[in-house]
Amino acid sequence: MTKIEITGGVPLQGEVWISGAKNAVLPILVGSLLGDAPSRISNVPHLQDVTTTMELLGRMGAELSMHDSMQIEIDPRGMNHYEAPYDLVKTMRASILVLGPLVARYGRARVSLPGGCAIGSRPVDLHLHGLQALGAKVEVRNGNIEARADRLKGARVIMETVTVTGTENILMAATLAQGTTIIENAAQEPEVVDLANFLISMGARIEGAGSNTITVEGVDNMHGTDYSVLPDRIETGTYLVGCAMTGGNVRCTHTSPGHLDAVLDKLSEAGAEISIGEDWIEMDMRGRRPRSVDITTAPYPAFPTDMQAQFTALNSIADGTGVITETVFENRFMHVQELQRLGADIRLKGNTAIVQGVSRLTGAPIMATDLRASASLVLAGLVADGVTTVDRVYHIDRGYENIEEKLSALGARIRRTDSAAG
Ligand code: EPZ
Repeated sequence: MTKIEITGGVPLQGEVWISGAKNAVLPILVGSLLGDAPSRISNVPHLQDVTTTMELLGRMGAELSMHDSMQIEIDPRGMNHYEAPYDLVKTMRASILVLGPLVARYGRARVSLPGGCAIGSRPVDLHLHGLQALGAKVEVRNGNIEARADRLKGARVIMETVTVTGTENILMAATLAQGTTIIENAAQEPEVVDLANFLISMGARIEGAGSNTITVEGVDNMHGTDYSVLPDRIETGTYLVGCAMTGGNVRCTHTSPGHLDAVLDKLSEAGAEISIGEDWIEMDMRGRRPRSVDITTAPYPAFPTDMQAQFTALNSIADGTGVITETVFENRFMHVQELQRLGADIRLKGNTAIVQGVSRLTGAPIMATDLRASASLVLAGLVADGVTTVDRVYHIDRGYENIEEKLSALGARIRRTDSAAG
């Protein structure tokens, strides 16, 4: 079983090149199915979830080719199979994103119902209600979502809960619907905006992306495009938290500072000195221990739930007590018991973690449970005395490109081991 082994105690120093955003590239790759010609997508991160999405699109008949290391060309003209099977959906819930494009462009879709996952039940009811509002016939049968429509019709869709991929599914479906669609209570995440900009470059008519109301004028067809994916704000935040925890000095390049306001505010509150430029963020801790911060997660532009585990790790070694409240997912504290194995002092009360900072953690074998939790465990290993071994690192590979290489370049003592046992 592959593991990551970290020897703690080294402040992170240097520059890290931020990759394209996982949560933008996945809907964008799928959105290319809406076109009647090939699209070229660049700044694509090399991630397991990208590989899974490419396999999914290939199985449907799309032609995919990798140009240089970070560009993918997708030609949807060979599409002849409109199904996302369980063996792929179970490894990547975001496969649900094919639903909207398949129904809108090909009139039919069969997508395996995604099961729950470590962080919560993750229902998709709002995706289905939205498609039904656009006139699709949707049934759930034998564990599959079956959707059909001759042609979707624009409608007013009020999202009961702010849902990122729910908004993205309905947005993509609406681009080829007949008439106008208004999505109310839409997600405002930068990745939703990036998808909208990609679709507009294919000929879609979209206004209001990034606000809570998105208006789409359906068109009859869309063409191919060339598009570069926006930088990953969560990867950026993760390296900045590693810098804050280790008392280092790190510059994140090729990133988008404007998408991290809530995170940068909290890092400043923790005592970090931060400077930003057009596409870079620099943090200097001057060797200081971070101060504890209180966090409450919520949809963008509030503090992102995808940064909660990393800040739980930061608070574990910070000076003071930090209260972390998770309002988006019902079970996103799986990293807590692993951090406790390293000596963290954390008490869970419902959706709140009360973290009393300790002066030191001690390395131990721990286990990753989900993507962002696994990143927080690696960060904790950077400061723990001795060796920390993180198991089930496939979780990390889903969302962090070359994490050992990037951390090693910042001075961390980290390596991947293939230990036979375990
Ligand atoms: C997206 O997941 C991200 N994934 C997640 O990132 C991220 O944590 C999440 O948004 C919140 O920001 C991708 O973009 C691929 P939601 P998504 O629908 O869309 C409830 C990572 O680590 N809900 O916004 O699945 C749901 O249960 C991943 O990169 C319904 O009730 O999340 C949750 O409580 C993890 N019914 C809340 O909405 C629905 O039909 C927000 O979930 C849909 C969602």
